[in-house]
Amino acid sequence: SKTKVAVFVGSLRKDSINKKLARAVEKLMPADFEFDYVRIDNLPLYNQDFDADYPAEAKRLKQQIEAADAVLFVTPEYNRSVPGVLKNAIDIASRPWGTNSFAGKPGAVIGASIGPISTAIAQQHLRGSLAFVDVPTLAQPEVFIHFKEGMFDDDGSIGPDDTRKFLQGFVDKYVGWVAKHRA
Ligand code: FNR
Repeated sequence: SKTKVAVFVGSLRKDSINKKLARAVEKLMPADFEFDYVRIDNLPLYNQDFDADYPAEAKRLKQQIEAADAVLFVTPEYNRSVPGVLKNAIDIASRPWGTNSFAGKPGAVIGASIGPISTAIAQQHLRGSLAFVDVPTLAQPEVFIHFKEGMFDDDGSIGPDDTRKFLQGFVDKYVGWVAKHRA
């Protein structure tokens, strides 16, 4: 059966460059991997009172992660950190205490920005949370995409050769990382 990756995109907007990055990476993945995009825009704001009776959308999120073999975070940087919508989803999936849905799922963090230092600081913050929720996260290569117009087509193809080769290198390392943790 296919190796299933639960993919979190940290931007909700229609024309998100991070959505484009996620699709471009999806296209570079081997045929025995499948991407399952996780919906995070319909979740309530996390409230510890939920722990007594978890909301339906929160349960659905947890089940989607638990059904995956691995996770992938593709996120913008908001004010030098992780977008609130994404952090909210992580908080929800990590609880109720003792039922952390992420436990042991191998993962990686990548991102694109219109700025030259890209999403480096957000990714560093996200890695801290992922360590706490027990996601072994690929260290290298770091993927800090400085987005330029025309980099990604709507169908997920990548314009510049160097970007495509770099992302293929990431995919190869990620696939190896996931395989190692499944073995
Ligand atoms: C940004 N942006 C941004 N960029 C960056 O490199 N570092 C940052 O800290 C921020 N902060 C930030 C905050 C907020 C609220 C917004 C809306 C934007 C710019 C960001 O890189 C740009 O809007 C990207 O296009 C966002 O990613 P998506 O939505 O295109 O995937």
